[in-house]
Amino acid sequence: VIILQQYVCVTGADRGLGFAFAKQFLHKGYVVFAGQYMSSWKELEALHEEFPDRLYIIDLDISNDESVKKAGQYIASITDRLDILVNNGAIIGDTTATIFDELDFNQILNVINVTGLGGLRVTNALIPLVMNSETKLIVNISSEAGSIGQCTRKAWYGYMMAKASVNMHAAITQNMIYDDGGQVLNFHPGWVKSYMSGQLNTNAAITADESAENLMELIAKHKEYAGPTPAFIDNLGNPQLW
Ligand SMILES: NC(=O)c1ccc[n+]([C@@H]2O[C@H](COP(=O)([O-])OP(=O)(O)OC[C@H]3O[C@@H](n4cnc5c(N)ncnc54)[C@H](OP(=O)(O)O)[C@@H]3O)[C@@H](O)[C@H]2O)c1
Repeated sequence: VIILQQYVCVTGADRGLGFAFAKQFLHKGYVVFAGQYMSSWKELEALHEEFPDRLYIIDLDISNDESVKKAGQYIASITDRLDILVNNGAIIGDTTATIFDELDFNQILNVINVTGLGGLRVTNALIPLVMNSETKLIVNISSEAGSIGQCTRKAWYGYMMAKASVNMHAAITQNMIYDDGGQVLNFHPGWVKSYMSGQLNTNAAITADESAENLMELIAKHKEYAGPTPAFIDNLGNPQLW
């Protein structure tokens, strides 16, 4: 049996969950294209010293058409297939303004551009490579915050509207690729100790490594979640309300 080299792209891989994914995919033997947004953060460089042959660090601003196109062309110059795309990069924006405050629509638009459209932009650029692979898997790191059915917060307009749009992007894309063996899987990663607030949030429930470990297990058995509509599950496999 010849085992084909597996390829994965992870966006927002500087730190937090994206970095944990990049590291864990490398340990599993994948070739990893890690989207770097903040080159001043050095964790990816250190990882590259450990895996010089299988880690490609690529400049990738998922909010920028040109940046995404360039990254897509670069990846396509290395491989003609991408087994897994992990759309992870996101920003949170304001979490305090309610409907009674003066909302900052430019900021909300920016959050929607990064967190909502970022994954769609990258998927759009990489879909030919994904559909050319064996696995054909698109993983979106969504959030319970993107659920309309279980919405309890009274603020967080940008982030929650953006994540709801990630869920819709998943459904539309799945409709298009399902017949050809493609699959979109949306995750709520748990409450993760990460850098969303600008510094490491140690109050959260689990580390990025723990979340990524859980999600890697679910990715390994992704076919169990395949169907005409995408699955939306948390890091322990519990279904989330859309
Ligand atoms: N933490 C949680 O409890 C939680 C819960 C539910 C869902 N999530 C989701 O989990 C995913 C990972 O987040 P995290 O918790 O690991 O937070 P994080 O540490 O802030 O990671 C997000 C990553 O996205 C990057 N990024 C920001 N803007 C970008 C852009 N324009 N282009 C490309 N990358 C960009 C960030 O880079 P910089 O650090 O350089 O800004 C960072 O590396 C996100 O989709 C988030 O919404 C997290």
